[in-house]
Amino acid sequence: MKTRALVAMLAAVSLGACKSKEEAKPGPGSAAPKGPPRASQAPQPKLPAMIGDVDPKKVELGHALFFDKRLSGANDRSCYSCHQNEDGNGGHDPIAIGSGDKPLTRHSPVIWNVGYWNNAFYWDGRAKTLEDNAKGAWGGGNMGGAPAGAKPEETTAALDKRAVELAAIAGYKPLFDTAFPGTKEWKAEHITGALAAYMRTLVCNDTAYDRYAAGDKAALGEQQQRGLDLFSGKGRCATCHAPPFFSTAMGLEGGAYFNTGVGTDVAEDKVDVGRMKVTNKPEDWAAFKPPSLRNVTKSPPYFHDGSVAKLDDAVKIMANGGIANKNKSPLLQNAELTDAERADLVAFLGGLECGGKLVEPKLP
Ligand code: HEC
Ligand code: HEC
Repeated sequence: MKTRALVAMLAAVSLGACKSKEEAKPGPGSAAPKGPPRASQAPQPKLPAMIGDVDPKKVELGHALFFDKRLSGANDRSCYSCHQNEDGNGGHDPIAIGSGDKPLTRHSPVIWNVGYWNNAFYWDGRAKTLEDNAKGAWGGGNMGGAPAGAKPEETTAALDKRAVELAAIAGYKPLFDTAFPGTKEWKAEHITGALAAYMRTLVCNDTAYDRYAAGDKAALGEQQQRGLDLFSGKGRCATCHAPPFFSTAMGLEGGAYFNTGVGTDVAEDKVDVGRMKVTNKPEDWAAFKPPSLRNVTKSPPYFHDGSVAKLDDAVKIMANGGIANKNKSPLLQNAELTDAERADLVAFLGGLECGGKLVEPKLP
């Protein structure tokens, strides 16, 4: 009993926490009286407050615009088309299909907590801010807001023109005027600013894991607690998917990119080079940002290329050390998990489901 309390205390201390013996006792579901300290029984990190512009007037305008197909070049896509509730706010097509039914090159990621990325938007981190990201999505193939192949200044001109048209719609005018009082000339940046403000409100901080982290030890069942032990311990998932974001790259200026081998098992000239396209560095070849695993159970298919339909298979690839290739991250090793352990991991990921959903607004 004494040893057990000591082990638990050491676990808490090693995580930088200073807890009394009483608080550091293993939870009621703890199955392992002996053995190494359990990550699941140590204090858990909590999400910080969202930073950046969340002016409610801009949020209201951005909310409507996010759902409005009139933003797209051919009135056939809204932002929501590819980031829908039923897909966990990611996409359902393995590779997203943009305006004019033209396929893009990657899978739509989950956008819960998107405002926490810092100079690391998109799978390859090529956009610095959420505003730049919104402009890219709107002006590019996703929404076709500018003609394909347009130069940057032509894209801005096309989007500015659309901003003027949208702000002139009778129902929209008051929303624009309230969000940006005194504006005489409507520009693309008003729209991207409003979209970014809205997206910063898409916070997922109410998962079973968050309740557990806040002290409700019953919020995760025993299997899920074992899964958390594996996630942070033997499975080494937390190296790249650290809580509370469940992506080590989230909140980190510039992000972090790893080659897991996903998408490299094709002819080399067909490989999406990922981060290397942004940095030109060979060590970034086919490296991608680890997505947050919040809501992951609800957002198949998986990976930047949407190549895996089932969560268990995605976890299997990760736990087995990724897919061998010339640049695989040494941080990804075969964790030698049993099927039962992998099932525990998947059960734990179920504890990361976000409670909220995007509310469809009445369009002006
Ligand atoms: C046709 C589908 C499609 C539409 C429409 C679309 N997106 Fe996306 N979205 C994607 C894809 C695919 C990616 C990933 C692209 C990449 O990484 O290269 C993405 C990525 C993003 C990201 C980055 C998330 C991250 O993890 O960094 C944000 C934010 C985003 N979209 C917002 C928007 C907004 C705002 C709109 C409307 C202006 C929009 N999307 C419209 C498919 C779409
Ligand atoms: C070396 C860093 C690293 C480690 C360690 C790691 N991952 Fe990942 N993970 C990534 C990256 C990078 C991606 C995106 C890969 C891609 O799409 O090309 C990813 C993607 C995923 C996805 C798909 C999510 C989605 O929305 O598409 C799941 C699920 C996942 N990882 C689970 C795990 C689990 C479980 C573990 C531990 C067994 C783990 N990962 C360990 C880096 C890592």
